[in-house]
Amino acid sequence: MTSLNTTAELDCRYRPKWHYAAERNWLNDPNGLVYANGVYHLFYQHNPHGDLWGNMSWGHATSADLVHWDEQPVALACDEQEAIFSGSAVVDAHNTSGFGVGGVPPLVAIYTSAYSPASPLAGRQAQSLAYSTDDGATWTKYAGNPVLDRASADFRDPKVFWYDGAAGGYWVMVAVEALEHEVVLYKSSDLKSWEYLSTFGPANATGGVWECPDLFELPVDGDAGKTKWVLVVNLSPGGIAGGSGGQYFLGTFDGVAFRSETTVTEGRQADGSRMAEYGWLDWGRDYYAAVSFSNVPGGRRLMIGWMNNWQYAAATPSDGWRSAMSLVREVRLETRGGRPVLVQEAVDPLEAAGTELFALGGQELAGGVTWLPAGASGDVLRIDAEFRPGAAGKVGLVLRAGGSAGGSERTVLAYDSVSGELSLDRTASGNVGFHETFPSVERVAVPLVDGRLRLRVFLDRCSVEVFAQDGLATITDQVFPGDSSTAVGLLAEGDGGTLVSLTVTG
Ligand code: FRU
Repeated sequence: MTSLNTTAELDCRYRPKWHYAAERNWLNDPNGLVYANGVYHLFYQHNPHGDLWGNMSWGHATSADLVHWDEQPVALACDEQEAIFSGSAVVDAHNTSGFGVGGVPPLVAIYTSAYSPASPLAGRQAQSLAYSTDDGATWTKYAGNPVLDRASADFRDPKVFWYDGAAGGYWVMVAVEALEHEVVLYKSSDLKSWEYLSTFGPANATGGVWECPDLFELPVDGDAGKTKWVLVVNLSPGGIAGGSGGQYFLGTFDGVAFRSETTVTEGRQADGSRMAEYGWLDWGRDYYAAVSFSNVPGGRRLMIGWMNNWQYAAATPSDGWRSAMSLVREVRLETRGGRPVLVQEAVDPLEAAGTELFALGGQELAGGVTWLPAGASGDVLRIDAEFRPGAAGKVGLVLRAGGSAGGSERTVLAYDSVSGELSLDRTASGNVGFHETFPSVERVAVPLVDGRLRLRVFLDRCSVEVFAQDGLATITDQVFPGDSSTAVGLLAEGDGGTLVSLTVTG
């Protein structure tokens, strides 16, 4: 079943059109993201039996274009001994594991076994393998599991990649000791036996457990001779917007240890006062457990996050399915403001099939809200806007506005000229009462470029994903507005602001 809603049965309220959600039941972290034989595989933390966390198994969906996803049968199911927690998958091209048959490289999943009371390893988390020799359709657990056990209760979320060093290649695993705020690194020649390399952390944000790490190399400004390594560390709570969030470090990796060049201060931050100086994957509340695909052609680095937050994930409105993934994001390192930063671009669900609904050229912004015509409204829209704030106190977009309750519902994306911050305010976005932490305002400092602010916004029924200044900062938030809250408006506080251009595509 495709995640693009075409059937009436699936077209229930809030079900996203562009974002993957399981047909039924609960979903959290993306797992085992891998490209193989023309197919992108998205595995994910899934409860096959209910719309709350539990019975953790790997759900599975496949896509040829990273936009249309076909749900597949559960790939790895929990049993009485273990739950299947997060992890990664690789194409074992040289059959180092020996799991391949007939010269066909196996797909190997490296996942965390979270052992249940029925297991002799009860209470532990250790790393295990499963493999597929039929393009991910069926999976077999390795008889020698677990392959890496530290006798720890919080050792999880292995991300494995092939490292090509001067002295030959080997597999590297990054995983976490979650409570210690440590990323631990191991190496292997066959995925089955692992040798300790090094430990990174604690560093920067440590206000919650460290989970779902990732480590990859990217060129800076597209220059293959100038690269940096990106270490991703998700943490919950303790994210920049509150609750779950993802941070990243830039530095070097020599095949043994990652050395950060972006650690603001060593050790744990007691007061959190330097949080905004750390590298963040997203400044909203709903982008967590983000990790990247392996084996993507052309060296592209593509990430997906879980579009939710552990603070309230169990309470969000459910129609039998709960939680969606973010759009797929291509990440790059670009020099902005004199230093390399991670910039992100959504794989555009409308690139091939969008219809321009409305466009405006340059014009002065009237103070207050200027509503766009009905043809520019909707709950599934891409909005591209460029503003010149000028003398206006604020400029921005009013989204998902209207509603039966006197038109008071709205989600407001505004740039504040005085503070230099872009904010997304969902306090009046609709149903916000299901959890006390849900009504929130997210903020990120965004420098204007030549006096201009560029925004790309994806609205998809229950979410707002904002890419500001060509991917320099992103804000991802869920919203649960009423059905009739579909209006879009231009916002200006005071005179002197200019709309340079606006395009609404659906
Ligand atoms: C992150 C996480 C992982 C764990 C999984 C369990 O959201 O807590 O650390 O493997 O979810 O579902």
